[in-house]
Parts: sequence; structure tokens; C-alpha cells
Amino acid sequence: MTTLAFYDTKPYDRDYMLAAAGAEQITWRFHEFRLTAETAATAAGCEAVCVFVNDKLDRDCLQQLAKSGVRHVALRCAGFNQVDLAAARELGISVTRVPAYSPHAVAEHSVALLLTLNRKIHRAHNRVREFNFSLAGLVGFDLHGKTAGIIGTGKIGRCTAQIFRGFGCEVLAYDPFPQNDWAQGHAVRYTTFDEVLEKADILSLHLPLTPETHHLLNAGTLARMKPGAYLLNTSRGKLVDTTALIGCLKTGQLGGVALDVYEEEEGIFFEDHSEHGLLEDDELSRLLTFPNVLITSHQAFLTKEALDEIARVTVTNLLHHAAGLSLLEGTVL
Ligand code: NAI
Repeated sequence: MTTLAFYDTKPYDRDYMLAAAGAEQITWRFHEFRLTAETAATAAGCEAVCVFVNDKLDRDCLQQLAKSGVRHVALRCAGFNQVDLAAARELGISVTRVPAYSPHAVAEHSVALLLTLNRKIHRAHNRVREFNFSLAGLVGFDLHGKTAGIIGTGKIGRCTAQIFRGFGCEVLAYDPFPQNDWAQGHAVRYTTFDEVLEKADILSLHLPLTPETHHLLNAGTLARMKPGAYLLNTSRGKLVDTTALIGCLKTGQLGGVALDVYEEEEGIFFEDHSEHGLLEDDELSRLLTFPNVLITSHQAFLTKEALDEIARVTVTNLLHHAAGLSLLEGTVL
């Protein structure tokens, strides 16, 4: 039996995790707050912690966890930019993640955002509900024949590219580690980052956040995008410099922006702030004023299939670690 502190818990987490492993296998301590250096003391007495994208496991936090006996960090997500892996290694804390729970969920959400934004479904829905059946201002464009640019052709980028091919788009891709057989099989053309930037009518980001990719899209690179292009980011907020993005929206350089992630989403996304009626983040507030910006709150992963898989892999990792078994291949960092 392992005792686990589970952070940033949402009702669906509890349901799916308990369905994957009952209380006879794991003693669950569900916390609604996030794990940070300030809250790390709450893991005392636990062998493992389970965290999500906005928990912050920096060196200070990990040191406190190690002192209180935590030996395993189970990420219930794919991205791991929020964990200081070097510190975890030094402290003898193993880190596992769920490398692929449903690339389809994220790819489909990326395209759903684009279709909604381009065909103005959200605006049309609101109008029709108020008995306004006018089509004024609802003109979109065909995806067929347009060029989609995919930055990062890992699991999610490849699914997204294939969906775009299904719409009849030409797909250009950039990845430092190209998957040439896959590209050939799906008539996707790899090229340079610059060519993708310059030619894409729709640019979709599917790469991890690392020190090298931080602000990959900044004032300089955004300015090189095709005028009127649409930008989709379902990967990580810090891939895009928000100040520069707002600048491009103000000048009309970009035709539309769909985001499932935001640079400063920590503490805002996943929570209901509607009661306060106040958003303290000025840049997010500004983004929300543009009619050609659509934002969801990091929900691209949120399908039944993905939640089942996240729970299954996370619980297997926890139980294997507790039993001293080797951890699932591909999940150890
Ligand atoms: P993956 O690891 O399968 O693929 C990432 C790809 O990016 C790799 O092929 C890698 O070579 C490439 N890459 C690395 N540096 C690059 C660069 N500088 N330029 C272009 N490509 C580069 O990852 P996966 O599963 O496809 O996920 C992609 C990202 O999606 C994750 O890193 C995560 O941040 C995000 N994500 C978002 C979710 C959401 O709910 N919004 C859910 C799951 C993942």
C-alpha cells in the first residue's frame, strides 16, 4: 500500500483515478491546491506525489519532498517543463509521466478551435440563441487548398497534420527530428522553420517548452508569418511572447489566434473566477477583447479516452514504483 498526495485535484481526476485503483491499493490524499515549495509540507508521510501541468516542482520544492520521504513524482500529463529534473535525479526522486494518453484529443481540439474561430461558430451560436439570424460578419474561409504549418511532428503534431490533410490542406512541417517515412506516407513536406512560418495560412504549435523553445514566436518571428495567418497553440503558453502577439493582433498582422494555453495561465486556468468578475491579468484581458481570438482553458486533453488512459498509466506507475518493479518503459525521466 502506498500513500499518495494528489495535487490540483478536479472532480473528474478523483473519479477516474479511483476507478483505476481503489482505496485498497493506494491511500489517496486529494488536495485541491497546487504543489509548490510553499505547499510541499503537505506531502509529509507520503511516498509519492501526483501532479499536473501547473504544479511547480522546482529545486526548493523537490528538496522538501525528499526530506519528507517522497521518492516518486507521478506526473499525470505529458509535458514535464514544470519539474527540475536535474534536482530530482540528484535527490533520488524518480519522475514518471504519461507520455501519450490521447494525441487525438489534443489534435482534434486544435482543429475544433480553428473551425470555430474561422467559421465563427461561437458568434453564430450566441446570435441564433437571441433570435438574430443575420449572417453579417460571419464570413470564413475554406480550409481546402490552404497551407497548414506544423511545428513539431511528435504524436500530436502528426495527428493534427493528418487531420489537415483530410481537409485537403497542403501540410508543411518543421521538426529537428523529422519522421520521413510518416511524412512520405501522408504527403506532408518537411522544410525549414522559416519556410513554414512564411508560407503557412495556419500555423499550429506541437512542440515541448524548453529553454530553447521559450518565446519561439516573438516579435521577430511573428512578423515573418504570412499576413492574415491563423495561429493555433495547444502546446505551452510560453512558446509565444504574449506582448508581441497582442502587438500583431492590433496591427492585423494575424488573422486569428486560438489558444488552449497561455503564458501566465498558472493560477488562472482550471479555476472559476466568474464570481469575482475581475481578471487581474491585463494581457489575458486584452486578448479576450479581440473578436478574432478564441481561448480555452487548457482543455485539449479533456476527453473520456484521455482521462481513462491518464488514470491507467499513472496508477500503474505508482503501483510499480511502490512494489519496486521496473517502471513503464518510456515513462521514466
Ligand atoms: P512529442 O514528444 O511526441 O513531440 C514533440 C515533438 O516536438 C518532437 O517530435 C520533437 O522533435 C519536436 N520538437 C522539439 N523541439 C522542437 C523545435 N524547436 N521545433 C520543432 N519541433 C521541435 O510530444 P506530443 O505528445 O506531440 O506533445 C506536444 C506538446 O503538446 C507537449 O510538449 C505538451 O506541451 C503539449 N500538450 C498539450 C496538452 C493540452 O491539453 N493542451 C496535452 C498534451 C500535450
